[in-house]
Amino acid sequence: MTQKIAATLIAGDGVGPEIVDATLAALDALQAPFQWDRQVAGMEGLKSTGDPLPPATLESIRHTRLALKGPLETPSGGGYRSSNVRLREEFKLYANLRPVRTAIPGGRYENVDLVVVRENVEGLYLGYEHFIQIDDDPHAVAMATGVNTRQGSRRLLEFAFEHAIATGRRKVTIVHKANIMKALTGIFLETAQQVYDRKYKGRIEMDTAIIDACAMKLVLDPWQFDTLVTTNLFGDILSDLVAGLVGGLGMAPGANIGTDAAIFEAVHGSAPDIAGKGVANPTALMLGAALMLDHCGLSSLANRLRAAIDQTLNADKVRTRDLGGTASTSAFTAAVVKRITHG
Ligand code: NAI
Repeated sequence: MTQKIAATLIAGDGVGPEIVDATLAALDALQAPFQWDRQVAGMEGLKSTGDPLPPATLESIRHTRLALKGPLETPSGGGYRSSNVRLREEFKLYANLRPVRTAIPGGRYENVDLVVVRENVEGLYLGYEHFIQIDDDPHAVAMATGVNTRQGSRRLLEFAFEHAIATGRRKVTIVHKANIMKALTGIFLETAQQVYDRKYKGRIEMDTAIIDACAMKLVLDPWQFDTLVTTNLFGDILSDLVAGLVGGLGMAPGANIGTDAAIFEAVHGSAPDIAGKGVANPTALMLGAALMLDHCGLSSLANRLRAAIDQTLNADKVRTRDLGGTASTSAFTAAVVKRITHG
C-alpha cells in the first residue's frame, strides 16, 4: 500500500468549503495518498474558536509541514491581521510561486505561460504601520515602513533561479522600482545581479524591468516574459494581473514554500459575492493541489489532474460561469472526476 502523507486541511471562508470539497473529490479520484488533519483559520477560526489562527492549526502544520487551504477572509482597514500573512511568517514561507497558463484557447491571449515568484515575508507586508493624530483627526497621517533584507532577497532569488532551471524555463525577469525606492527595492535588484553573476550566469537568461513598465508590457505582449521575480507587494499585484491574462482568478494556483512548511492554495480570496451559491470555479485550488502533488514527488498524479482539468474545459466544454460557461461547482467537479477515472 502507498505510504500515507499527513497534511493539514483548512477549508477556509466564503467559497473555501465549496472549492475544497471539489478538490478533495478530484484528489480522492486520483487516490492521492494524503491523510488529512482538518483545522480552521480566518473568519471560521474566529467564529468557532475565537482565534483567526488557532494554536491547534499552527500545531498541525508544525507537525505535517504540509497544508492545503481555502481562502481566508481578512477584514479591510481595522480588525484582525491577515491569517495568511501570519502563516507565511510563522512557517517562514518566503517563496510564493504563482504559475499561470492559458487553459482555454480562443481567448484574448493565447499560449500564455508565466510564473510569478513573489517574496512572501518581507517588504511592505510586515505590518509596520501607524497613524498619527493631528487635532481631532486620529488618522491625519498614515505611515508604513517596508523592510527588505539581503539574506531574504538572496534566498528568494536563489529559489526562483533554481525553480526556473529545474522546470526548464527560458528567462528570469527581476521586477523592481529601484529608480524611486532606491533602498527598499534597490537591495533586491542589487542582490539579484550578485546572485546571478555568482551562480546562474550561463545557465539561464536574466533581465530586469521596472514594475510600472512591466505591468504595461504584460498587457501588451505577455509572451516576452517567462518567469517574473519580485518583492512582496509588486508580486501580489502582478500575480493577479497575470491571472487576468488566462481567464481570471478562478484559474490561478499558488504555493507558499519555506524552510519549515509548504502551503498550497488558490491565488483568489473568499469571493463573498458568490459564496454559498455553488458557482465558484474550483480550478485554481485543484491546480494548487497539483502543485502540492509535485512538491511531494507525485508529479504523475499532478499531471493526470492537470490533464483531466484540460479535457473537462476543452474537450467536454464544461465550464463555470466565470469562464463563460453554465456549469455549477459540483457539475464541473463531477466532469473532472469522470475524466480522472475514465480518461
Ligand atoms: P476575491 O479574490 O475573493 O474576489 C475577486 C473577484 O473574483 C470576485 O468577483 C469573485 O467573485 C471572483 N472570484 C474569486 N474566486 C473565484 C472563483 N473561484 N470562481 C469564480 N469567481 C471567483 O477578492 P476580494 O473580494 O478582494 O477578497 C475577499 C476576501 O478574501 C478578503 O477578505 C481578502 O482579504 C481575502 N483574500 C484571501 C486570500 C487568501 O486566502 N489567499 C487572497 C486574496 C484575498
